[in-house]
Amino acid sequence: MNHIRWGLLSTANINRRLIPAIRASARGELAAVASRSQAAAALYADAWDIPLAFDSYEAMLASDAIDAVYISLPNHLHAEWTIRALHLGKHVLCEKPFALTLAEVDAMIAAAAQTGRVLAEAFMYRHHPQTKIAGEWVRSGRLGEITAVRAVFNYAMASRQNIRLNPDWGGGCLWDVGVYPVSLAQFLLGGPPVQAAGAQILGPSGVDEDFLGQMWYAGGAIAQIQASFRCPFYTTAEVIGSEGRLSFTRPFVFTLDPAERRLIFHPREGDPIEVATPEEELYAGEVADMHAAILDGAPPYLSLAETRDHVRTVLALYESARQNRILPL
Ligand SMILES: NC(=O)c1ccc[n+]([C@@H]2O[C@H](COP(=O)([O-])OP(=O)(O)OC[C@H]3O[C@@H](n4cnc5c(N)ncnc54)[C@H](OP(=O)(O)O)[C@@H]3O)[C@@H](O)[C@H]2O)c1
Repeated sequence: MNHIRWGLLSTANINRRLIPAIRASARGELAAVASRSQAAAALYADAWDIPLAFDSYEAMLASDAIDAVYISLPNHLHAEWTIRALHLGKHVLCEKPFALTLAEVDAMIAAAAQTGRVLAEAFMYRHHPQTKIAGEWVRSGRLGEITAVRAVFNYAMASRQNIRLNPDWGGGCLWDVGVYPVSLAQFLLGGPPVQAAGAQILGPSGVDEDFLGQMWYAGGAIAQIQASFRCPFYTTAEVIGSEGRLSFTRPFVFTLDPAERRLIFHPREGDPIEVATPEEELYAGEVADMHAAILDGAPPYLSLAETRDHVRTVLALYESARQNRILPL
């Protein structure tokens, strides 16, 4: 095998970002799409020029025509379909948030281990050069002793008909976009927090539409994060150390204009310095990483242990918000 035949498990909106990344990759091809209805699958396959359309997720997973699946289902279905796909011999790239409980995460990891298939969380910005370079700056010591990370991901949801507002489906802004600041803090600070405090504002459907969190890390640093469904689009992040700080204008890389994406070093003394970060298509890295893991046996760049810690931290933040007190992880 020298290339991977991908199947899209659903006709989700987000697919339109992965499709060009698969097509642009040297070792992947888009072979199939599955939907709960034949009509939707056929329409989608036609619109996106995809060779095979399956009228059920089961049918695509049973097919020998695909090697790997991209799971872009509502959050509460990630675990079930990931496990089913792995047991039917498929490699899986599963959207964030990976799953909604640690029991689900552990069952997914166990299924990957049992079947010997590759499983990874689709956290695209973690693969982007900007994120990797920021991590290198922190670990090189140029920022000195790191004391804080602050990160925000807000957007104003356009329609109230959205899977993200359903409390039974893993709705809520922390699960949806708060996971980005949570994962960035974990990456920059070298691991998950030891304590977490969360505060949330619930919307009419009962999910958090605003969330603020603070996390304490073993090395002494503190992270503060914010997520929202109600505020205008705004993302920012900074990592602050004794020798200076690195600030991101687009930490999660979402932007139509690459000139808006800047990583800036503010030293203890002197003028700010722009840190050069190569341009790369946002979804290219996670696809290439899956190909390397499947075809070359390379370990996935984002390990399942890190993914488990993302979920563990989010659960602690939610529990803290519910109990209105700081909780250990
Ligand atoms: N990494 C990123 O940049 C990024 C960005 C956006 C979203 N995401 C993640 O991707 C996932 C999908 O988000 P999305 O906004 O693309 O979702 P969406 O457009 O609402 O699509 C979800 C799909 O799931 C399928 N589905 C199965 N059961 C369903 C049910 N009971 N109700 C509704 N849909 C159901 C549907 O496909 P069929 O009708 O074809 O079966 C539907 O098209 C989420 O986990 C989200 O967190 C990631």
